[in-house]
Amino acid sequence: MIERAKKEGEFASLAPMAGVTDHVFRSMCKAYGAAFTVTEMVSAKALTLGDCKSRTLMSLSDEERPAGIQLFGSDPEIIAESIGQALQFNPAFIDINMGCPAPKIVRGHAGSALMKDPGTAQKIVSEAVKRSNVPVSVKMRIGWDEETKNHVEFAKAMEAAGAAFLTCHGRTRAQMYAPPADLQAIAEVKRAVSIPVIGNGDVFTPQDAKKMYETTGCDLIAVGRGCLGRPWLFRQINDYLLTGSFSEPDKSEKMRVMRLHAKRICEEKGEYGGILEVRKHALWYTKGMRGAAKLRNRFSTLSSLRELDLLSEIICGQDA
Ligand SMILES: Cc1cc2nc3c(=O)[nH]c(=O)nc-3n(C[C@H](O)[C@H](O)[C@H](O)COP(=O)(O)O)c2cc1C
Repeated sequence: MIERAKKEGEFASLAPMAGVTDHVFRSMCKAYGAAFTVTEMVSAKALTLGDCKSRTLMSLSDEERPAGIQLFGSDPEIIAESIGQALQFNPAFIDINMGCPAPKIVRGHAGSALMKDPGTAQKIVSEAVKRSNVPVSVKMRIGWDEETKNHVEFAKAMEAAGAAFLTCHGRTRAQMYAPPADLQAIAEVKRAVSIPVIGNGDVFTPQDAKKMYETTGCDLIAVGRGCLGRPWLFRQINDYLLTGSFSEPDKSEKMRVMRLHAKRICEEKGEYGGILEVRKHALWYTKGMRGAAKLRNRFSTLSSLRELDLLSEIICGQDA
């Protein structure tokens, strides 16, 4: 999948982001040339308890494929048990979350807490591999904290357990989302294993993507925060890595994409519920945009698609 994507000129995948990478966002990023997409993290335990909302998170449409389903949990048996449900949605792969730093997740010994317990992490992967007829991958950090960085041994353990590829976010759990991602550590992971390694962390521009490739030797890049309000970043990265140049959509094109995104969210979730979600995306789309700063309060209290249209017309009417 990774090699095929690059042959087709797709150099970056969409990183999983809870509360963001839903069906609509995944299909938009795919349309802009994301190599593949991944669902928001889904609780294996909730799946085994029959939770419908968790099951809905795994629903995949053709527009967002190839797509993986990301599971989180701490119990190898429960993760293995949930795999069957995930497979019903025909994912291209199943990813296990070993990077989430959120207190709620690590308190349950899941997410990045698994980096402190490579034995359990290994069992999770080997049990998942036994139950899965699609590749199982791992999303990891570079350790729990500075004192216990174990990215190289951890990556090797995941490879030995049967992981098909790794996505490595170049920070420890303690670092959360700052300081800058450690690209050297990702390079160390890449050198330590023979399975593909996807480099992740701080790719906000096409130039960042090039630096990630050159510094780490990674096989692909995963983009998270960089594409919030900027799904066209995937096309820019692909253009830049193929031709050395890329173009920036103008303000009216950006507003057109924002309105399309909002409309699709509301089609999917209804305008009443959808508009709450549209608010956060609208703030991302207009961040730093001339003329948008004084409208931020209005975006954060947005109540209809009609209001979004009016605000975007005001922004487009400002000087470029
Ligand atoms: C809002 C948000 C939600 C996230 N949710 C997930 C998640 O569900 N699963 C996961 O493995 N990582 C999650 N992450 C981490 C990202 O996938 C990624 O590893 C991290 O943001 C670093 O990449 P970036 O610098 O490109 O954003 C999340 C990050 C953000 C900002």
